[in-house]
Amino acid sequence: MNHFNLINGVLHAEDVALSDIADAVGTPVYVYSRATFERHAQVFRDALSGLDNPHIAFAVKSNPNLAVLKVLARQGYGADVVSGGEMDRALAAGMAAEDIVFSGVGKTAEEITRALKAGIGQFNIESEEEGRELADIATSLDLTAHAVLRINPDVDAGTHGKISTGKADNKFGVGIHRAAEIYARLSALPNLHMRGLALHIGSQLTSLEPLETAFTKVGVLVQLLRSQGHEVTHVDLGGGLGVRYRDGDNPPEPADYGAMV
Ligand SMILES: Cc1ncc(COP(=O)(O)O)c(C=O)c1O
Repeated sequence: MNHFNLINGVLHAEDVALSDIADAVGTPVYVYSRATFERHAQVFRDALSGLDNPHIAFAVKSNPNLAVLKVLARQGYGADVVSGGEMDRALAAGMAAEDIVFSGVGKTAEEITRALKAGIGQFNIESEEEGRELADIATSLDLTAHAVLRINPDVDAGTHGKISTGKADNKFGVGIHRAAEIYARLSALPNLHMRGLALHIGSQLTSLEPLETAFTKVGVLVQLLRSQGHEVTHVDLGGGLGVRYRDGDNPPEPADYGAMV
């Protein structure tokens, strides 16, 4: 459900005719509906309300518009960022630094330094090398980096190949079979507080099945790490549920997703 409707044959965003907006500001123009964002934010929050202290991080790459981020910040959402620029936008939108997750395979030393100084809540480490660099930089700044290790569960998300992120041949995360040994080595580094795992298998997911397969693998790994004496308090679960692009599209319902999680 959204707030874009035909009224007397004219497409409206909430109460405003899009033709009036086009007349006022010209085209092309992007029009967002705050009521729709707020409604979707509420639906997804409700879907996860059965979890213990859930934190929802909006992928800034999907829409870095400051006005949009401000609406989501007011809804209590944090941000998933993959660059210093995205981090700056999330902070400028009023998101608390501790509610921001820094993901992505290309973090530079300069970005890591800035993120540590800003007090970013969580680094999603994509490789052992990145974890070592993060620990080195945190040590040099006399700060602690809170982090999780992104694993690659080798699950086919069943989405378009270009937006698949969790197959073994995708560049993201460490192979799940090597994760425990890497986690142990990173946990021993100074100024690096390892607190859990992350995964992301793809975008525009039209079935819950691959998510459940991947999350189940992570659950098994969490138990293994705990049995080895490691602290695991956070698990960062991705990919995103598909959106309804066309009539007849039938992506999973958020409530079913929440129940599965
Ligand atoms: C770590 C991470 N977060 C978020 C996204 C955005 O996708 P979605 O909104 O479908 O989760 C991606 C996409 O590649 C990603 O790799």
